[in-house]
Amino acid sequence: MAGRYHQDQGGDGGASMEVVSTPNQELALTNCAYVSPADLRRFPNGLALVADAWVFTLRDHNAVASGRIALNAIQRRQAKVSAGDSVTVSSFVPPDDFKLALLTLDLDYAKARANRNDELDAVVLAQQLRKRFLNQVMTSGQRVPFEFYGTNYVFTVNQALLEGQESSTPLDRGFLSSDTYIIFEAAPNSGIKVINQKEAASSKLFKHKEFNLEKLGIGGLSAEFTDIFRRAFASRVFPPHVVSKLGIKHVKGILLYGPPGTGKTLMARQIGKLLNGKDPKIVNGPEVLSKFVGETEKNVRDLFADAENEQRTRGDQSDLHVIIFDEIDAICKSRGSTRDGTGVHDSIVNQLLTKIDGVEALNNVLLIGMTNRKDLLDEALLRPGRLEVHIEINLPDENGRLQILQIHTNKMKENSFLSPDINLQELGTLRQGSRESLATQNQIPSSPM
Ligand SMILES: Nc1ncnc2c1ncn2[C@@H]1O[C@H](COP(=O)(O)OP(=O)(O)O)[C@@H](O)[C@H]1O
Ligand SMILES: [Mg+2]
Repeated sequence: MAGRYHQDQGGDGGASMEVVSTPNQELALTNCAYVSPADLRRFPNGLALVADAWVFTLRDHNAVASGRIALNAIQRRQAKVSAGDSVTVSSFVPPDDFKLALLTLDLDYAKARANRNDELDAVVLAQQLRKRFLNQVMTSGQRVPFEFYGTNYVFTVNQALLEGQESSTPLDRGFLSSDTYIIFEAAPNSGIKVINQKEAASSKLFKHKEFNLEKLGIGGLSAEFTDIFRRAFASRVFPPHVVSKLGIKHVKGILLYGPPGTGKTLMARQIGKLLNGKDPKIVNGPEVLSKFVGETEKNVRDLFADAENEQRTRGDQSDLHVIIFDEIDAICKSRGSTRDGTGVHDSIVNQLLTKIDGVEALNNVLLIGMTNRKDLLDEALLRPGRLEVHIEINLPDENGRLQILQIHTNKMKENSFLSPDINLQELGTLRQGSRESLATQNQIPSSPM
């Protein structure tokens, strides 16, 4: 985390200063570091890189002797020093374009206290923090104590994204500006409840822990799910003005592919239960195909009609429309590859492409295609801007097999149909081919699936 590219360019080349504690409690809540008036002059920007890791705004204070730097308890802990130790301090020169577009902050109490139960209004809190810490540098991982309506809290910077920086670049630091967008998160057991945070309400979905896939009857796919959400949904939580500042282009399409029977269709049916917004539209390739001329194209057009209407009427404010296309290979085979001479496939592929990648492309659509036969798909469909994120849904590993077995034997177990000597753990270690022998051995029906 230590100043990866915003290096110290101070003339002093990182002087060593003696650490003391902050002169008083009030100053401990400013997130500033304090030095003597004479020392302050050595920092032309008023910014110091401390312990090669954290950037603090410096202020002068008469109670701090020259050669010393006053840090609050949290700053000292993060710099891994105690009062009396020495620490390297150098002048920090901010690069150009150093304004933060977005900060996500984890909230906690400064002191753990039982039975706390506070509702924090995200809008009011964001306003106050922007004002209080205006033009201070925030670094990901940094912990900052603050006071809010008489209670002391600490926030930890989770993400710090600069304007013009895509979400995929490494997290780093920047200036908190008057229009930095702040998203708050609080652990469910923290006792803190964040209210009035409509725009980011769905960010909960992206936390790995939060998906209860087992409850949805999906086993062994949590890594894949996390990948899907990180790559396809994460950018959608941010409000439009933040998205345009970050320069994010939403992913419009993803492709889930892999061998048959690995749970793709199952995921298609369950994904809606994880989304906060509208229910996804789910169709499957063969069902959309029609033997009547032009009918298939119309079916495809109809799929997008709601999204089109909403984009027209609500523009940037439109909700996300998720369209799941199971067995997409049935209608999106390589153009020219079919011999029926009707060119139906060609025009369907074109139709899909105009909706997600054309001049009048929809920005409020996420198309999720699923297939067992990625090799059959029209290449054009898989390029960037189209079904660009490809996620392989493969055969489950041992842990996945165990989860799947548990899911499918749960009911039997509840109703005592599962003999107690069946060891799912052990079954999970077996691979293909060994199933039959075990089935006879343990007298279980050969495939519950
Ligand atoms: N990961 C999984 N977790 C739980 N059940 C699964 C899983 N994968 C497959 N199954 C079971 O197998 C059935 C067939 O899977 P399906 O989703 O149709 O596979 P695909 O669409 O990938 O060919 C599912 O309905 C489910 O009962
Ligand atoms: Mg399927």
